[in-house]
Amino acid sequence: MNATENYSIRVEPTQNSRLSQVDFDNLKFGKILSDHMLVADYDDGEWKSVSIVPYGDISISPSMSALHYGQAIFEGIKAYKFADGTVSIFRPDRNWERFNKSAARLQMPEVPEEIFMDGLSKLLDIDRNWVPAKEGSSLYIRPFMFGTEAALGVHPSKSYKFIIITGPVGAYYSKPISLKVETYYTRAAEGGVGFSKNAGNYALSLYPTQLANDEGYDQIMWTDAAEHKYIEEAGTANLIFRIGDTIITPHGDTILHGVTRRTIMELADKWGYKTEQRKVSVQELIDGIKSGTVTEAFAAGTAATITHISRIGFEGQDYNLPPVEGREFSNKVLNYLNELRYGKLADSFGWNYLV
Ligand code: COI
Repeated sequence: MNATENYSIRVEPTQNSRLSQVDFDNLKFGKILSDHMLVADYDDGEWKSVSIVPYGDISISPSMSALHYGQAIFEGIKAYKFADGTVSIFRPDRNWERFNKSAARLQMPEVPEEIFMDGLSKLLDIDRNWVPAKEGSSLYIRPFMFGTEAALGVHPSKSYKFIIITGPVGAYYSKPISLKVETYYTRAAEGGVGFSKNAGNYALSLYPTQLANDEGYDQIMWTDAAEHKYIEEAGTANLIFRIGDTIITPHGDTILHGVTRRTIMELADKWGYKTEQRKVSVQELIDGIKSGTVTEAFAAGTAATITHISRIGFEGQDYNLPPVEGREFSNKVLNYLNELRYGKLADSFGWNYLV
């Protein structure tokens, strides 16, 4: 791992580790946070200070710009522990790249490699005992950045905080999920911020998701803003389908450019499956479920990993997907990724970033 070249990282280790209080057999997503966090401050056009400090509250101004005008972006990454204790982060370079694309769209500064990648490595080195060893668990990593300028005028914030927090997690979804096709509310339109991982994309999903939950669905399936005809993504992850013998994922700038989705499509290509990144209409999906050509459907994301879809609700009708056991591609990719991430397979793609 490279030493930080231009930014010296101050480290203040905790005097009160909470590690012994953690029940690693009962991990709820996002409820337990590790001992340390990385905090970097940007001001006057440059990153000034980078520190690893005990996890804890931070002080902000009530007029802080992110609270009012929403300059707030984040990432989701996971780290795993091999049987020999090695800690490995899965493709963090891709998240770093996406983070800076989100930053550019929201007129925020880029975070340099030495802060994002080397800082992450150093943080995980200090908190390596927080990475769960049990298969099915991992350390969830949440890098995020927000505008901190205390000013109510609408302009890009002049100052920012970049923070990385982490915490041990189990599965985000513990069983296959049902999705309601959303044909009224909109997540993203062409030219908007759909591809980026900004906080507002999640805020706007909460109300329609609650309506879907009230109708008995776990999540929503977003459709395009113009016609509500084409499938975009689920509320918390991208979507991938097997239609006939082709692995297909919706594509475009209104859709989050997921690292898990990209990984799965790369594997499908490598393994000789036909792949397509294209528009998929809701009608094509429903017709395919009815005729039996849609044999697999799953959500793909860092938190969700690969979550099978069991049922899709569209215009008051429910359509059930085939049983999970027979889903050849998604089960194969899930097993392969598990073995790779826990260090049981040779890393021929260079996706494991060892700490
Ligand atoms: C992730 O998959 O890491 C995300 O950020 C999604 C979030 C809904 C948990």
